[in-house]
Amino acid sequence: MVSLMNEDEGQQNDDCVVRLNGVVIGYDSNDPLVGVPDLTIRSGEIVAITGASGVGKTTLLRTIAGLVRPISGTLQVCGATLPASPLRGTVGYIPQRLGLVRHASVRHNVMLGARAGHTQSLTILPSSDVTQHAMDSIKRMGLSDKSNEPIRRLSGGQQRRVATARTLAQAPKLIMADEFLSELDDETLSKVLSEVIDYVRTSGAALIVVEHDVSRAKSMADRLLVIDDGQVNPFLSEPTALEVKS
Ligand SMILES: Nc1ncnc2c1ncn2[C@@H]1O[C@H](COP(=O)(O)OP(=O)(O)O)[C@@H](O)[C@H]1O
Ligand SMILES: [Mg+2]
Repeated sequence: MVSLMNEDEGQQNDDCVVRLNGVVIGYDSNDPLVGVPDLTIRSGEIVAITGASGVGKTTLLRTIAGLVRPISGTLQVCGATLPASPLRGTVGYIPQRLGLVRHASVRHNVMLGARAGHTQSLTILPSSDVTQHAMDSIKRMGLSDKSNEPIRRLSGGQQRRVATARTLAQAPKLIMADEFLSELDDETLSKVLSEVIDYVRTSGAALIVVEHDVSRAKSMADRLLVIDDGQVNPFLSEPTALEVKS
C-alpha cells in the first residue's frame, strides 16, 4: 500500500492515522486484557484483528472508537489524542451489537449516519444532498426496497446491512467493524464486503475489522493481527500439525 505520508509527519490533510504506543486496554487495572506496545494503522489500510472469543477484540475497537478509556497510555486516532481529547472527524463504528433505532425505519437510521457525517464536514451540504447520500448508501447495501421498513421487522443480516449503510453514509475516514459479516449468507456477504472495500479503496479511508474467521480475515485484509496471550501480534500462520505435536 502506497502511503503519501512521511513517517514523521503524522496527521496531515484528511488522512486518518491510528497510533497506539504502550497502551494497556481493559476494564480493570488489576486485570488488564490487552497490551499494545506499538501499533500504527494508516489511511488506505485494511487491517483485520482476529483471536479467540473473550480475548478483547471488541474492547480494542471500542477503545480506538473512544468508547472505552484505556487503563494506561494514549492513542492517536484521526488527529485526536484519546482519552484526553474527544474524537474529531469522521470515525464510523459498526458495533457487534448494532445500536440501531429499532422502531424507526431503515431510512431514518441511515439518515442519522449521514447527518452525523455532514455536521463534521466543513462545508454544509443542502439537506437534499444529505438525503441523497443516505439513499445511495441504502442502495449500496441492497436495501432500497426496505427503506421504509422498521428495523425490528428485518432479519439479523438485513440489520447488519443497515448498520453498514449508516456508517458509509457518514463518509468516515476510519471505519471500524466488529464481526459485521456474521449472519450474512454467502452471496450477501460478498456484496457487502465488496461495497465496503470499494468505499475504502476509493475514499482512502482506513478499515479495521474484527473477524474471528481467519480465512475470511485473510481474504479481505492487507494486514492480519491476532490478540493472543494479552498481546496484539502480527498473525504469522496457524501452527502446523507437526508444530502442535512437538
Ligand atoms: N463493559 C464491560 N465491563 C467489564 N468487562 C467487560 C465489559 N465488556 C466486556 N468485558 C469482558 O472483557 C473481556 C473481553 O471482551 P470482548 O472485548 O468483548 O472480547 P472479544 O470481542 O474478543 O470476544 C471478556 O471477558 C468480557 O467479559
Ligand atoms: Mg467481540
